[in-house]
Amino acid sequence: MTGNEIREKFLKFFEEKQHLMLPSASLIPQDDPTLLIIGAGMAPFKPFFTGKMKPPSPRITTCQKCVRTGDIENVGRTARHHTFFEMLGNWSFGDYFKEGAIEMSWDLLTRVIGIDPARLVVTAHESDDEAAAIWRKVAGKEAIRLGKDNWWSAGDTGPCGPCSEIFYDFGEDVPGGMPGTPDEDGGRFVEIWNDVFMQYDRDANGNLTPLPNKNVDTGAGLERWAAMLQGKFDNYDTDLFVNLKRAVSDVTGVAETPENR
Ligand code: ALA
Repeated sequence: MTGNEIREKFLKFFEEKQHLMLPSASLIPQDDPTLLIIGAGMAPFKPFFTGKMKPPSPRITTCQKCVRTGDIENVGRTARHHTFFEMLGNWSFGDYFKEGAIEMSWDLLTRVIGIDPARLVVTAHESDDEAAAIWRKVAGKEAIRLGKDNWWSAGDTGPCGPCSEIFYDFGEDVPGGMPGTPDEDGGRFVEIWNDVFMQYDRDANGNLTPLPNKNVDTGAGLERWAAMLQGKFDNYDTDLFVNLKRAVSDVTGVAETPENR
């Protein structure tokens, strides 16, 4: 499946489930002094979570252009981090919550896309027995329970909540341990989707206030899905990059080598 096909399949799946498909917003945040660059699909939707603005639909899906400044130090060091990347996502603003989000994620990954469930590892926040019970029911999986890695917020302040990350196992040939183990960053288990249950607004002192609604915010890296579905461990070996790299080689006359990639 090409990157373009993955993007289309994801958005169509959620459109068929009554989500309004919106185009990506600009990388430059509009009216948000807390952010320099858009780093997640949810960033343009912050006023919908806080109740400041009414969303055009209680269900939305997008493919958002992102630059994640917090990941910059990892770019060039791992097979899965980028300066610019595309984040696929689905949102519920006071509509479905944990059960709907987990059911749809699992259905898209295993039935529609056809990923072997044995390759998927799921996690839930240490406090979130509800999400863990839903994973047991929907997928027959015992979620690994983690602390700060299963809590998501767009910045120091604003909407946040517990999350359930889904990992893909690239197989025992790749070094690296399960989520929550000391060598979790090795690369064998890669986070391919995050379901965030946006329930709180955090202020500058760290106080959490419940949001007016219970919401869902998910994010799936297109480049990681391409690696997973194209049998390439390295995102930079997927169709999203090989043509670009070839063009760079043609223009510069420099061939790609393990040293300069
Ligand atoms: N906003 C969540 C993330 O970027 C889904 O991981």
